[in-house]
Order: sequence, then C-alpha cells, then structure tokens
Amino acid sequence: MMMSEGLIQKVAQIPQVDLGHFPTPLEECPRLSEVLGGPRIFMKREDCSGLAFGGNKVRQLTFTLGDAVAQGADTIVHGAASQSNHCRQAAAACGKLGLNCYLRLARDHKSILQGNLLLDNLTGVDVEIVDVPFGPELDVVKYELAKDLEAQGMKPYVVASPRSTALAAVAFTWCIAEIAEQQQQLGIDADWIYTASVGGTQAGLVLGTKTLEMKMKPFGIAPIVWENKHERLRSAANDAADLLGLDTRVADTDIQNTDDYIGQAYGYLTPECIDALKLVAKTEGIFLDPVYTAKAMACLIDHIQQGKFGRDETVIFLHTGGTPALFAYQEELVASL
Ligand SMILES: Cc1ncc(COP(=O)(O)O)c(C=O)c1O
Repeated sequence: MMMSEGLIQKVAQIPQVDLGHFPTPLEECPRLSEVLGGPRIFMKREDCSGLAFGGNKVRQLTFTLGDAVAQGADTIVHGAASQSNHCRQAAAACGKLGLNCYLRLARDHKSILQGNLLLDNLTGVDVEIVDVPFGPELDVVKYELAKDLEAQGMKPYVVASPRSTALAAVAFTWCIAEIAEQQQQLGIDADWIYTASVGGTQAGLVLGTKTLEMKMKPFGIAPIVWENKHERLRSAANDAADLLGLDTRVADTDIQNTDDYIGQAYGYLTPECIDALKLVAKTEGIFLDPVYTAKAMACLIDHIQQGKFGRDETVIFLHTGGTPALFAYQEELVASL
C-alpha cells in the first residue's frame, strides 16, 4: 500500500512552479455542524491557497504552468467563462512568473467589469471577450490565436483539456496526500470529501483516495452539465496516474458526481445556494462563491437533511475558492437580503 510520503515523492517529480501557500489549512466547522445537526464537518481551505485571492486553480496551475515552462513557453493562452476563476488565477500567475498572458473569454450574462473580469483587467494581461460559447468553439479561438502568436515569434502554450485536466488531477492527488497527513495530525479519518467539481479536482481526489486506500469517498457536485462526464473524469484520473507513474486504475464505478444542484444553468444562482452561502458566512465566517462552492454546500446540506450521514461520521468539504465572483452577483445577492 502506498503511503502519503510516497505519493508526495511521485508528485515532486512532475515539473512545477511555486505559486501558492501550501499546505492549505484543514479546519473544523463546529457551528455549521451543530446548526445542521449533522456529521463532523471539516473544511479544506483551497480558497486560502494564496495567489490572487486563492482557489483550487492555484494548485492546478502549479503543474499546468510547470508544464508550460518545461516546454519553453513564454506566453500563455487561456479562456473560459467571463467570470472564470481559472483565468483570473492564471493571469496573476503569469505576472508572477514573467510570462505573457492572453485571455479569450466567452461573452455571457456576467461579462461585466466586476469580480474576476475586473481582476483580470487589473493584472494588465491581454483580455478580450469573444462571441463564442465556452466549450470546444472557444478552444478553436485559443488555438488560432496561438498560431498567430507563434508566427510573431512567441512561444505560446494553450491551457486546454485534456492535458490541463490531467495536470489538475495530479494537483488534487497531491492535495489528498496533504489531507492524509493533516488527518493524522488531527486524529480524524473522514468518511466523505465533498467538492464542487466535474473536472480535474474530482479526478485527483478519486485517484488519490484510491491510491492511498483511504476510507474517505469523494463526492462531486457539478456546476455545469458536461456530456460523458464519467468518461472525462476517469480519463483525467488515469492520465494523471500515468504521469505520476502509479499503477492505480480508476473505473466509472469509483466516480460519484451529481448534476442535481446546478439549477437553471451554469452561473445562475439557486435559492438553496444563496441560503447555503449565508449560513456558512453566519456560522463560520467563511464566504463561499455563488457559482461553485455554494451549490456544493447546498448539496451537502440536502444530504444531511436526508439523513445520509450518522452523527459519528466526518465529512470534509473542499472549499475550491471562487469568492471574487461574489461581486459580479451583487444584484442577485442584494435581492436576497
Ligand atoms: C471555485 C471553483 N470551484 C470549482 C471549480 C471546478 O473545478 P474542476 O475544474 O475540477 O471542475 C472551479 C473551476 O472551474 C472553480 O473556479
């Protein structure tokens, strides 16, 4: 059986850059647990990962930009939804590493100069809102831009799946090794880890817990509907296993992920997510974000209310960050006061 130190050594062999504050804290939320009459709840604070307001993408970019630098890139091309946390953290990371950065963001209902989009612009990177939807069509825009930049003599690196998802899974395999060590220090052995993800974060949690043969089962709450999500998550986990030189193989049956808390669509609030956001702020002084983590917390609250956990069980909620997006949702949040 592999131990956490062995896994950490495997991770250390992957090209990486130093971006964040790790390990992130793992702290108990006793007031939240008490109010919900639920299991013991701990929060893994990836929102405290340091760079540019933190978030799960700092750990992921440690390897994505490590890959870019190892390949000799001097320019990063990235793009996603207009309030993308990934792009905000990438823009900040590029500044820190001295890389050029181009963001091509899909025009949507939150293409306003607030939250992440405001922060992107403050970093001084090249930001453009484009009239194509977030998804494969946006990837085409990114690759075309990379071709133009290459013709101008730059060495661009495009952040896109499947490579970036596999490297994100490497990052969260490392996070699991970190949690395993923190659990030992705290004298806990969690039953579940809940997180907002339908990508590399969950893939890494699944690969890490399976490799270390932990009791803890990952449960993912999707913020967006992706076709073939099980196949995508399984491939990302197994690609990460190959990158890390692990024998572990992840199967579809290892993956638990729900679409039930998305609501109307990606990036639209649900009444339950607003309630969850306020409850965690009130009981623990911790802010969730409206697009990802509040929906994940709405799921955890629902599962507690359905009686899924015993009082003697322990759940870790992985807080993936995203809090700057709160300010882009000012109108909806004010309406809920
Ligand atoms: C705050 C936040 N939580 C969760 C996620 C989901 O991460 P993953 O790429 O693992 O699906 C993201 C990124 O899209 C995010 O910004």
